[in-house]
Amino acid sequence: MTMLSDTQSISAIRETEFPIAADWAYLNHAYESPNPARAIAAINDKVAQAQRPYLAFPQHNVALDKIKRRLSDMTGFAPDRFALLTNVGDATSTIANGLALQSGDEIIMVEREFPSFVFPWRVQEGRGVRCVFVPKDGVATNLNRIEAAITDRTRVIAISHVDFQSGFKNDIEALGKLARDRGVYLFLDVSQSLGARPFDYASAGVAGIVGVGFKWLMGLHGLSLLGIADWAQDAIEPTIAGRNGMTDAWMDGDLDLNWLPDARRYQSGNLNWLAVWGLAASLSLHEDFGFANLETRSMNMREYLVSGLRENGVEITSDLRPLHASTIVTFTMGSPERTEAFVQSATKNQISLTYRGGWVRSAVHFWNDEADINRLLDFIETYRPE
Ligand SMILES: Cc1ncc(COP(=O)(O)O)c(C=O)c1O
Repeated sequence: MTMLSDTQSISAIRETEFPIAADWAYLNHAYESPNPARAIAAINDKVAQAQRPYLAFPQHNVALDKIKRRLSDMTGFAPDRFALLTNVGDATSTIANGLALQSGDEIIMVEREFPSFVFPWRVQEGRGVRCVFVPKDGVATNLNRIEAAITDRTRVIAISHVDFQSGFKNDIEALGKLARDRGVYLFLDVSQSLGARPFDYASAGVAGIVGVGFKWLMGLHGLSLLGIADWAQDAIEPTIAGRNGMTDAWMDGDLDLNWLPDARRYQSGNLNWLAVWGLAASLSLHEDFGFANLETRSMNMREYLVSGLRENGVEITSDLRPLHASTIVTFTMGSPERTEAFVQSATKNQISLTYRGGWVRSAVHFWNDEADINRLLDFIETYRPE
């Protein structure tokens, strides 16, 4: 396997895979990633195949298997523990609707999670389930409060690995231990983490993960992942039935519910195959770079940004403690209005950032370099509100 992680390789990756690097400082992976050129080529191949579709059908599982093998390398879940779905809403609904929850059971979440990860749990209120929202300390999750909220009716803790707004990275080892000790399921939204860092969710005792493909995994919209631990599968009934969740018995006219034995049972029917083709190719870039190198490189870039912001006297609003730091860094330019105007002005100057919750949200990936970050820092230094 080619390892592409030295500095020379970063400039080669930027040149060959990310044409946007020539004119933009793209620091917005928490919003959406540019797809690398190899993914665009794969998507174009698939577009061409749309004119000759009979050639492509048997290849669908090959592409899915490539994705699942690479997800496995980044998560610790075996490839057969994954189902591919469409978005975080349907992946989370698969878990929430499939659990045998009773009236009075409780789901613990922290406040201000991403809505698609919250609504599927709220739907369970229709069967008498109680959603308990634990307040944060500023941007930080307070584990003591989560522990104190656990009762003998608690069935689930649902939380993101990295918070979409502030970039706060939750301590999954501690949460996994807490969940195991108290006999509750821990489910994670890994949309803002997977692809930026490998993490062994299986060893941490996580029951299941959901995530999107279009952020740190650098894919298209319309494709999400669901990973379910083998020991948790029996507790989650499949509730969306389609041909890709069943054995091939249906081909012989057997229309019984012949669920596949592994997590493929949570898949339904056809997927957005353009996105599948693209994601398989995008993840080959993560693999070539070296899964183990992703976090070191992107956190080095993030460190470079944090030092520069500090030198510029900018107020950082993310939690900077190493255990909780992620590739998302937020900061303020004063009032929310000034901060929003700053993001608009940066965008006009081809520096891609997001305005979220009153803050500037920056999100650096492994292929960003110092020049991208210097462009932002120089812009801050010379910025004068209009
Ligand atoms: C943490 C997190 N979860 C989920 C999503 C997307 O959810 P969905 O796929 O349901 O649109 C996002 C952002 O778009 C996010 O930041």
